[in-house]
Amino acid sequence: MKNSTNQSIKPITTRRNDYGYLEIGGCDLTELANKYATPLYVIDEATLRAVCNDYKDAFKDYEKVNFMYASKALCTSAITKIVASEGFGFDVVSGGEIYTVYKAGVDMKKVLFNGNNKTVDELSLAIETGVGHISVDNFLELTMLNEIAKSYGKTVDIFLRVTPAIECHTHEYIKTGNLDSKFGFDLSQVDEAIELIKDEYTNLNLRGLHAHIGSQIFETQVYHDEIDILVTELVRIEKKHGVKLDEINIGGGLGVKYVETDVPPSTHKIAEVIINSVKLSCEKHNVNYPTIYLEPGRSIISTSGVTLYTIGSQKQVPNGRKYVAVDGGMADNPRPSMYQAEYTAEIVNKPANEDLQKVTICGRYCESGDVIIKNIELPNPEAGDVLCVYNTGAYNYSMASNYNRTQKPAMVLVNSGLSDIIVKRESLDDLLEHDVIPSRLK
Ligand code: LLP
Repeated sequence: MKNSTNQSIKPITTRRNDYGYLEIGGCDLTELANKYATPLYVIDEATLRAVCNDYKDAFKDYEKVNFMYASKALCTSAITKIVASEGFGFDVVSGGEIYTVYKAGVDMKKVLFNGNNKTVDELSLAIETGVGHISVDNFLELTMLNEIAKSYGKTVDIFLRVTPAIECHTHEYIKTGNLDSKFGFDLSQVDEAIELIKDEYTNLNLRGLHAHIGSQIFETQVYHDEIDILVTELVRIEKKHGVKLDEINIGGGLGVKYVETDVPPSTHKIAEVIINSVKLSCEKHNVNYPTIYLEPGRSIISTSGVTLYTIGSQKQVPNGRKYVAVDGGMADNPRPSMYQAEYTAEIVNKPANEDLQKVTICGRYCESGDVIIKNIELPNPEAGDVLCVYNTGAYNYSMASNYNRTQKPAMVLVNSGLSDIIVKRESLDDLLEHDVIPSRLK
């Protein structure tokens, strides 16, 4: 079976150039660091498009599949344009994400709105901009959405988000399909929701069921179990309520390779499991194959992104660790401190394997937990060296903060030797932009 891009730690264009310097997308990373300053997010367009093609190729034998990129992983206007140009739709989870994809000119019919506590304003924006599906999460939202849709004189296509009670082996904070979850209807609440939609909520058009098990998943059996539960539920709903549903949204979650010990399945393997599971369940119940919606986020964007930092101070703890500090950290990548996430890195301007020292890469923020990589071997790291941390495309910029009143980094898109800013570095004035001094303090 084919390997796929999510199984690689580095962007597909990563190489050492003739000077021994690291290069991505045909751009020398030391030059990018000089030109745009650090910390710097770099996105390799070729890798991003390769992942999209992996997905399309993997599912080419199943006609009715819709890829909805989970833009929470990384949502910017340029990234949206690229992903849309690959024929993908979008899973959005806020007014901000709706607005971004709308302004980027996305066909809003290919957008799906998720979330466990959507506001009236967000639901209204979704209806005004013509979002294709809304995945309704709870009873309050059913009532609200019906009211809002009615006030616009529209009928809205919806999924019901359900909790399939499946445990997957990932970090506690990024599991979502388990029984004790804040997301979605418990399966025991589905009948009541369907009766309400049938009898009262005439501005809602139920199209199918939605579930999402969790994120950074390496197992395939959980998808099989999830699909069987969703298909069985569709069959049960038709029998009990006479409501025929022909769409299932199985969420996202496919993992990526952050470190050598990570072994995520390929997109082709996941596709095989998903397609076979759908066929098996449908044949068991003697029903037609449904349209499948997928919401991959991390596996689409993670591998294409790296972060460049400049190395600064060092501290050798007597008889202990050697800390090497960089000019970023938990504000541009909160994942190590939130989820004990692990990363791989290389020094850009030094041969990878000479004069190796075991060090701990820490950030510049005022917290001891601000560590990016514990115990990594690097070739004699010194102040001024540029460090490239791999696989930072997903949930880094999207979760970045201004902690310690620092400016969020810039983001650059590289392709075939060209580099373009796609997110500007924040300035000191940007930090003050939303501050207001009441007149009595002036
Ligand atoms: N669909 C739904 C309903 C979701 O909640 C998520 C992620 C996705 C799709 C996309 O999942 P992915 O393919 O990216 O695994 N901040 C965490 C990840 C949180 C994921 C939340 N939901 C992290 O940095 O690991």
